[in-house]
Amino acid sequence: MSKGIKIATIGGGSSYTPELVEGFIKRYESLPIRELWLVDIPEGEEKLNIVGGLAKRMIKEAGLPIKVHLTLDRREALKDADFVTTQFRVGLLEARAKDERIPLKYGVIGQETNGPGGLFKGLRTIPVILDIIKDMEELCPNAWLINFTNPAGMVTEAVLRHSNWRKIVGLCNVPVGIKMGIADQLGVEVERIHVDFAGLNHMVYGLNIYLDGELYTDQYIDHLTSSDGSSGTMRNIADLKWEPDFIKALRAIPCPYHRYYYKTDEMFAEEKKAADTEGTRAEVVKKLEKELFELYKDQALSIKPPQLEQRGGAYYSDAACNLIDSIYNDRKDIQPVNTMNNGAIASIPDESAVEINSVITKDGPKPIAIGDLPVATRGLVQQIKSFERVAAEAAVTGDYQTALLAMTINPLVPSDSVAKEILDEMLVAHKEHLPQFL
Ligand code: G6P
Repeated sequence: MSKGIKIATIGGGSSYTPELVEGFIKRYESLPIRELWLVDIPEGEEKLNIVGGLAKRMIKEAGLPIKVHLTLDRREALKDADFVTTQFRVGLLEARAKDERIPLKYGVIGQETNGPGGLFKGLRTIPVILDIIKDMEELCPNAWLINFTNPAGMVTEAVLRHSNWRKIVGLCNVPVGIKMGIADQLGVEVERIHVDFAGLNHMVYGLNIYLDGELYTDQYIDHLTSSDGSSGTMRNIADLKWEPDFIKALRAIPCPYHRYYYKTDEMFAEEKKAADTEGTRAEVVKKLEKELFELYKDQALSIKPPQLEQRGGAYYSDAACNLIDSIYNDRKDIQPVNTMNNGAIASIPDESAVEINSVITKDGPKPIAIGDLPVATRGLVQQIKSFERVAAEAAVTGDYQTALLAMTINPLVPSDSVAKEILDEMLVAHKEHLPQFL
């Protein structure tokens, strides 16, 4: 690809874009990008112009010959692209706030990617991703699709089940966040830590931990369960401490999102309290976004502002740049990504998407087989995988009963009658973004 690389970013007006641009700038030597196309929709045009202006200033400051294009025309951006990154939010933060508030009325967790909120984020997102893939099949059939649009795991599953597109990698920052948390708790550089990740997106476990290449799981669990320090979380998830005996018995590190499943009542109470005071996470983020975009407007700003680390998705975009760099350069390094299982986890179907450590090659991720998940974790993971598959089916078909089935089998929803009440209210609340259900 001596002509230089063309990258198209769908959802280019995102507040995370400056981290993506920073990641491309610092890797320019090994990842010579010629064109970066930032794509958004008319409702996002103002944000696109603000973020795009900062992107151009960052690149000019770095003195790199990367041409930044801002466009509402997705097809123009996709033409002959080498990599397509997707980071969009259908219905914007307003839709997320509904996902977080409505379930609370029924005593159910309201969250961006879990429970009813995760179902509806998937129902809104999957048709759009499949539509983007139709354009890619025509305009850039050899490109890699790097998706970090949530729910990233369900979206990857939907693409593998409901399209012929196979050059997709789903990304998340949770694994890198766990690694950084472990390094921080042990007071060592993150490069000295390795973690065997396996599971699903937002349902991933750290199965073994290594310090300087030596197995360190038991020592870390002792440290984690004896210190009263943080057990590690993201900006968007309350840092409730794990029961020491639970973690010792589990002998694996849950991800921050496991709190919604292993601490459901406490997390619900946290969410209810937040919703009644400072607001749900989406409502808090909306304020943070206003501050970020005020910063981005400043013509004197030509770096990614540190305030962006206040978003839960910090380091997402750097993970994406790292992945693109390793595919482009056939690095064969190990990264945790969402990819087709292919037998890497015995108790998950071969053709399903899993989140797992993979060797990253020019032909994409090669998942590292783990045998199987620990017995104690298998049931929840398989239940979430069933939910993802039925939810994807509902997203593609627009079939009401399939959507009700998905809602009912979700472990955070207590009964079929509550599932029906929540489903009916949310179908009305999100009507404008669910054409498949009209
Ligand atoms: C975490 C998750 C992301 C999620 C983000 C929300 O990083 O890995 O999938 O989108 O948090 O962060 P926010 O700041 O939007 O609540």
